[in-house]
Amino acid sequence: MKAHDPVRQAARLLRGRRDAVALTGAGISVESGIPAFRGSQGLWGKYDPAEYATIGAFMRNPAKVWRMLSEMASLCGDAVPNPAHAGLAELERMGILRSVITQNVDGLHQAAGSRQVIEYHGNMESLVCIACWKQYPTRERWVDGTTPSCDCGQILKPNVVLFGEPIPWLAQESAEEEARTCGVLLVVGTSAQVSPACDIPRIARKAGAAVVEVNPEETPLTASVTDIHIPGAASEVLRTLVGILRVPGGPPPEH
Ligand code: OAD
Repeated sequence: MKAHDPVRQAARLLRGRRDAVALTGAGISVESGIPAFRGSQGLWGKYDPAEYATIGAFMRNPAKVWRMLSEMASLCGDAVPNPAHAGLAELERMGILRSVITQNVDGLHQAAGSRQVIEYHGNMESLVCIACWKQYPTRERWVDGTTPSCDCGQILKPNVVLFGEPIPWLAQESAEEEARTCGVLLVVGTSAQVSPACDIPRIARKAGAAVVEVNPEETPLTASVTDIHIPGAASEVLRTLVGILRVPGGPPPEH
């Protein structure tokens, strides 16, 4: 075993404090076949977010934005949880992880068995009318390739947060409360470039939590906020972490 193995260090922290919270981003679902937003294979390489992901763009041309949303919905629809989602659900069952704050709208944490999930950017499960605010389950109103409409005749928007829209207040309040009160924040698969989600690790750190970051790349958090950076793929890291934490008595000392 490597000296100062960051996975072991993280396991020791998690076992010691037992009040961890996870913050996840698109990177955790990459191994489920859903591309991330940034990077060479990212969705924003294909769709300019200024043109496809702002509330202004949606109001100007909903059919165009629905083309991007349709691609996102079908990618999410086919995906199943991977060992990283399963690992976080297992840590919750073990009483180590308290909740997951996710920026993802794919529902894979719940599908993996996580119970306390804060959906910071909403989800694709429901649609809301831009005129009368009536809500519908997505599967009742949306057919791939179409722009869904309300009984009042206006356009429906998925309950996801587009740029320029506020974070749902309950999600924002709960996420900040979780950040202020956790002992460890496990940040998995986010580039930490989108505000206000990227403030959550800073809030946690300022309140005294240790920040563990799982990401093959460095992010703006790595040098200034992160205590332990585990530079690996989420599924492999979570599988190893859970394996260590399952051993009664805790991880053996480092050599
Ligand atoms: P990004 O696409 O910005 O970042 C994904 C991160 O995951 C990158 O830092 C990758 O290095 C990392 N990554 C890739 N594969 C990984 C793996 N197998 N295991 C672990 N990490 C991996 O996605 P987010 O940070 O989630 O918001 O993006 C934040 C927000 O920007 C999204 O919620 C969305 C987007 O615009 C809105 O649309 C409002």
